[in-house]
Amino acid sequence: MSSSLTPAIQIQAFGGPEQMRLVELPVGEPGPGEIRIRHKAAGLNYIDVYQRSGVYANPLPLTLGMEGAGVVEAVGEGVTHLQPGDRAAYTSNPPGSYSGARVMPAKTVVKLPEAIGFDTAAGMMLKGLTAQYLLKKVRPVEGLEPGDFVLFHAAAGGVGLIACQWAKALGLQLIGTAGSAAKCELALAHGAAHAIDYSREDFVARVKALTGGRGVKVVYDSVGKDTFERSLECLRPFGLMCAFGNASGKAPMVDPASLAARGSLYLTRQTVFTHLATREATQAMADDLFAVVASGAVKIRIDQRYPLAEAAQAHRDLEARRTTGSTVLSL
Ligand SMILES: NC(=O)c1ccc[n+]([C@@H]2O[C@H](COP(=O)([O-])OP(=O)(O)OC[C@H]3O[C@@H](n4cnc5c(N)ncnc54)[C@H](OP(=O)(O)O)[C@@H]3O)[C@@H](O)[C@H]2O)c1
Repeated sequence: MSSSLTPAIQIQAFGGPEQMRLVELPVGEPGPGEIRIRHKAAGLNYIDVYQRSGVYANPLPLTLGMEGAGVVEAVGEGVTHLQPGDRAAYTSNPPGSYSGARVMPAKTVVKLPEAIGFDTAAGMMLKGLTAQYLLKKVRPVEGLEPGDFVLFHAAAGGVGLIACQWAKALGLQLIGTAGSAAKCELALAHGAAHAIDYSREDFVARVKALTGGRGVKVVYDSVGKDTFERSLECLRPFGLMCAFGNASGKAPMVDPASLAARGSLYLTRQTVFTHLATREATQAMADDLFAVVASGAVKIRIDQRYPLAEAAQAHRDLEARRTTGSTVLSL
């Protein structure tokens, strides 16, 4: 088995989708704390674009992909929570899920409940665990109660549609932004209380109108450069600006005094991987995600599927804002 080859999407230099090559790579045996997993599906995420382009620079050559589901083939020394034959899923650093099989740290891999299929799992681990910590672990200083308003950008995307549904289940009034009327309809159909087409409307004015001039308790901003400054305008005093992505480019530097002037605001830049630092924390968050999916309160929409060999086209579509919900690469 140690000499077997597996297909993988690899980059040898940072750049556009043209850097993504289908190659054959050897898959070895798991060392201590590792497993070997044979993928059934891999998830596409915007972070894969940052890693391909070099915004987040990993050592090269690099097999892309941070989300996957499949069957455990072998476990290394010290791994007790997984066994060969287990159905499993993960989001994980280092990347490598755009592949037929890989050896990887076992820490962030969890057993998959029978009720959840491989495609669904591949479409929800990174995105769903992100929605989980954003809505349930990142708290504004005045707390978050049913009925409270929050603003969530890119609400019809992968993380966005999960967040719309989960926020509704928590009783929050999520105001979603999205880049077209059709995407706004999708956000509303998935539980957003209001939707704003930010390609046509002034989202600050709409948020103020919807909240009686007060503003929201939290803004979840993964768009970055294009929305960051105006997102701050949407917050009520002591509100929390939760930046968690840069789909339009990196957010500008912030003068701390500007947070005071806008009402003693709080600012945080979050990453899911801080929340997944231990196996116990990962399992607890995954159990919460599996429960909300099993309950039917959150449905995972897979709106795009591509064969592994067409991963570059998947990247083009994601960057051109042509996708909604989750996207899965089939293996
Ligand atoms: N920090 C974390 O823990 C963490 C974890 C997961 C994801 N994220 C971030 O969350 C965001 C959503 O991730 P995702 O994988 O679910 O992607 P996604 O939302 O499915 O796709 C990104 C969306 O961003 C919007 N967007 C706004 N300006 C854009 C631009 N200039 N170029 C491209 N897209 C633009 C587009 O929606 P509209 O057309 O509706 O504007 C696009 O569909 C990403 O920024 C990602 O990096 C962060």
